[in-house]
Amino acid sequence: MTTGGDGAPEQDAGPERMVRLLAGFEVSQALYAVAQLDIATVMNEGVRGVAEIAARTGTDALVVKRVLRTLGDFGVVDQRGDAEFVLTDSGVTLAANVPGSLRDLAIMLMETHYLPFDRFVETVRTGRPAAEIYFGQTFFEWLNTEPGRADQFSAAMASVTDGMQGDVFSGYRLPVGEVVADLGGADGSVLLRLLQEHPDRRGIVHDLPAVVPAAHTRVADAGLDTRVDVVGGDFFDDVPVADVYLLSTVLHDWDDESCAALLTRIARTARAGARLVVVEMIMPETAEVHSSKQVDLTMLGMISGRERTLTEFTDLLASAGFRLDRVVPTADTSSYEIIEASLTG
Ligand SMILES: C[S@@+](CC[C@H](N)C(=O)[O-])C[C@H]1O[C@@H](n2cnc3c(N)ncnc32)[C@H](O)[C@@H]1O
Repeated sequence: MTTGGDGAPEQDAGPERMVRLLAGFEVSQALYAVAQLDIATVMNEGVRGVAEIAARTGTDALVVKRVLRTLGDFGVVDQRGDAEFVLTDSGVTLAANVPGSLRDLAIMLMETHYLPFDRFVETVRTGRPAAEIYFGQTFFEWLNTEPGRADQFSAAMASVTDGMQGDVFSGYRLPVGEVVADLGGADGSVLLRLLQEHPDRRGIVHDLPAVVPAAHTRVADAGLDTRVDVVGGDFFDDVPVADVYLLSTVLHDWDDESCAALLTRIARTARAGARLVVVEMIMPETAEVHSSKQVDLTMLGMISGRERTLTEFTDLLASAGFRLDRVVPTADTSSYEIIEASLTG
């Protein structure tokens, strides 16, 4: 079965296609169950029969069969016989402990994004993020006061780095500069990956105070605590002094005004000749299918951010005194890109 860009079977058209789209929330919940209950993890160990899957995961065999049968329509599993299923390449990403696993992302999305989206109609009416209406505070404020949620979010972001960002960093070398500061660096996954290529550089992971414990652990586990500092703080108030600033999927979290404030703070603090490395999806100017369009819905519903076109990135960077130097050519097939910029002043 081939599926369209939205995961719905391609032969569906008109009303059938619309019904599938409208019931997308059921598919999301089914995927969450398969990830959260480790059904995919067990299947990835080679277990095909629903009876054994159910026994290993403490689930109901008949329900597992019905759920997997449905997910077959969405290209997540292949059915082999009456009650046997195998994961497709896409389905494997829901298993734990596989390279590129998106299990943590599946859990985070359904446990922190799903319910707030109930208020999306109000977002469309007012422009206010649904999550802000639902939680009564901004998503990041909620995240950093709810026990365990900051770590959960960082783990999900790390799974995007390891999975969805594909090989965007493969062979990439940072611009010159001794100290590299990763702002909004979460658990430091992106910085640690990039520093592998640069044993001579020092790094700083900067994020909100509730997030940095995960970075301390990850940096220590990598044996890099003498080379990488971890700093907790609000990047709108203060940023560390550095030669290279890394902003990986940070600018898309914020509206233009907030981005300009952050970039201006960097420009005022940075060492002379500082460079900026921005990792983001770049929204096409045309109508082509692109993952950034779906992520733009997340930005609308959860925070005040947005996905941007190259022209919009160029203008945004220029508003704070940065010149966009290049979009780094990579052989990578993911939707993520690396943008380099430098201070013009
Ligand atoms: C979308 S995540 C990106 C994480 C990481 N850079 C990556 O690429 O996986 C955005 C990060 O910005 C952090 N953040 C949000 N507001 C912040 C603030 N005011 N100061 C510092 N970090 C902040 C969040 O805690 C989160 O880790």
